Amino acid sequence: MAAPAMVLDAGRIGAQAARLERDLRQRIVGQDEAIEHVVRAYQTHLAGLNNPDRPVATFLFLGPTGSGKTRMVEALAESLAGDARAVVKIDCAEYQHGHEIAKLIGSPPGYLGHRETHPLLSQDNLDQHHSEHCRLSFVLFDEIEKASPALWNLLLGILDKGRLTLGDNRVVDFSRALIFMTGNLGSAEMSALMAPGMGFTGSTPQNGAGLERKIARAGADAARRNFTPEFMNRIDAAVVFRPLDHDHLRAILDLELGYVQQRLLASARGVRFRFECSDGVKDFLLREGTDARYGARHLKRAVERRLVQPLAGLITTDQVQAGEKVIIDVSPDTGSLLFTKQPVEEEAGDSAGERQPDAPTLAPLIAAAAREARAARRRAG
Ligand SMILES: Nc1ncnc2c1ncn2[C@@H]1O[C@H](COP(=O)(O)OP(=O)(O)OP(=O)(O)O)[C@@H](O)[C@H]1O
Ligand SMILES: [Mg+2]
Repeated sequence: MAAPAMVLDAGRIGAQAARLERDLRQRIVGQDEAIEHVVRAYQTHLAGLNNPDRPVATFLFLGPTGSGKTRMVEALAESLAGDARAVVKIDCAEYQHGHEIAKLIGSPPGYLGHRETHPLLSQDNLDQHHSEHCRLSFVLFDEIEKASPALWNLLLGILDKGRLTLGDNRVVDFSRALIFMTGNLGSAEMSALMAPGMGFTGSTPQNGAGLERKIARAGADAARRNFTPEFMNRIDAAVVFRPLDHDHLRAILDLELGYVQQRLLASARGVRFRFECSDGVKDFLLREGTDARYGARHLKRAVERRLVQPLAGLITTDQVQAGEKVIIDVSPDTGSLLFTKQPVEEEAGDSAGERQPDAPTLAPLIAAAAREARAARRRAG
């Protein structure tokens, strides 16, 4: 009778791991190797096979800026804990001195501020997002190469024993934590490799694959040069994120537009409406948002500036009402983005979002709203 139960359990573990993999693939573009490592670690945890005296998994993420290292940790928290913010994040550059380390572990009894400091790495803080579905914690050490010697020692202890002793001698258990460390080591070499003309946009697959290998090597070499073998041996996997090519950025743009739509539909002001972008708009945003040095970060900025800010202007100046649809296109005359709106009644029976001939054009109104906002800022300042 035991066999069917085991089969069932293996099936459940497989389904949970598959769900995580699907969620990560929906959110993270082009970083399959990193996804595979994370999913494998989760599966090992579900099967109860990871070492109970160490964190569930320890990863070092290297690679170009804006390639999804931090987003990967957020996406994991989103999938497993239901909230992208369920991550204890430590910016290593902020903990250079003894008193700053106290923000992480608290001061010893008797020291000034002992009672006031609530250590960031306390058990409560680590476990605050646990639920009956997920009892895992996600801890992210950003810019690990900037960690001070005191922070390194603390980190090595966590990686080695899965425990940390706080200033007041309480012990924090990290055996249910996934630890992520991100770094920009080797980024100068990577930027040089990705300079225009070096195939960042992946014009041919060969270029793309060759570049990726070089980037991976630059990351691995930099890690070897900068980190001690003692540290590298404690890491389950060091993954160098790949540079994003044009197709990746296009897929990320679709994701970002989807997030903007979700934000609009969940708007606290209650002005909930849909928008629709033509392919020309996507090309426009990609042209503006592609910069090899900043990866998808630059693209996000273009979406904020060209789309979110004008849409916010429409909301705050009451030019768009709940239920309406805003159609965004590129003006054939000026080449800039043109916002028109389509009242909701006209949507019904309207074939595939066809534009209404007399749909009001919002571009001048947006310009007016921007002028008004600038004037208000001047008056306030
Ligand atoms: N591979 C990706 N898939 C989906 N979105 C991505 C990807 N890479 C970047 N993004 C988008 O760009 C934003 C910035 O990326 P992220 O913060 O993950 O960069 P990073 O690799 O951590 O860079 P840095 O080294 O500068 O910290 C993310 O919030 C996400 O919206
Ligand atoms: Mg980051």
